[in-house]
Amino acid sequence: MSTPPKPPTRIVYATMGLLLAALLIGAAAVLWSGGGGTNALSIGGPFTLEDGNAKPVTDRDFRGRYMLVYFGYTFCPDVCPTTLNAIADAMDRLGPAADRIQPVFITVDPKRDTPAAMKAYVAAFGPRIEGLTGTPEQIAAVAKAYRVYYAEHRTGPGPGDYAMDHSSVLYLMGPDGSFVAPLRADATGQEMAASLKKLMG
Ligand code: NI
Repeated sequence: MSTPPKPPTRIVYATMGLLLAALLIGAAAVLWSGGGGTNALSIGGPFTLEDGNAKPVTDRDFRGRYMLVYFGYTFCPDVCPTTLNAIADAMDRLGPAADRIQPVFITVDPKRDTPAAMKAYVAAFGPRIEGLTGTPEQIAAVAKAYRVYYAEHRTGPGPGDYAMDHSSVLYLMGPDGSFVAPLRADATGQEMAASLKKLMG
């Protein structure tokens, strides 16, 4: 009778543990690197989308100003409107410094969020936020570049009966297009204004 060779279980677990630790440290670095400056992990990059007038818009159109990027969708029942309200409030509180920032709301629901729908929606939060949409492929590409997760979630049998699950992330990008820092999307306008002031120096 022969004993089968023991699989190197402990080594496998140890390796998995190390990989997991590396992933967690990476994620933590993205989430908590709020001190400004550059980050080794890439967030953002080139994109081509459409503005509220269905005109093509790229990341290069925002150079020279900070870009405050938020992903969501106009049918969002709760989180998106709250965050957009806070962004609008933060911009009001910043006064003239707000001219150095362009808040950008990018939809994760391009099927329903046409350029006109985006334009009407962001206008409800004041004149400062720009709403961007695009083809499903363009949205997938920009979401990937910004490491944003989103997925359709059925709420009924009809074609429009769905909600979008999506990560609620808010990123400050520098005037040169590089990633500066994440901001808490659930912060108040006052907290956001304070963070932005600090990050912009
Ligand atoms: Ni939302």
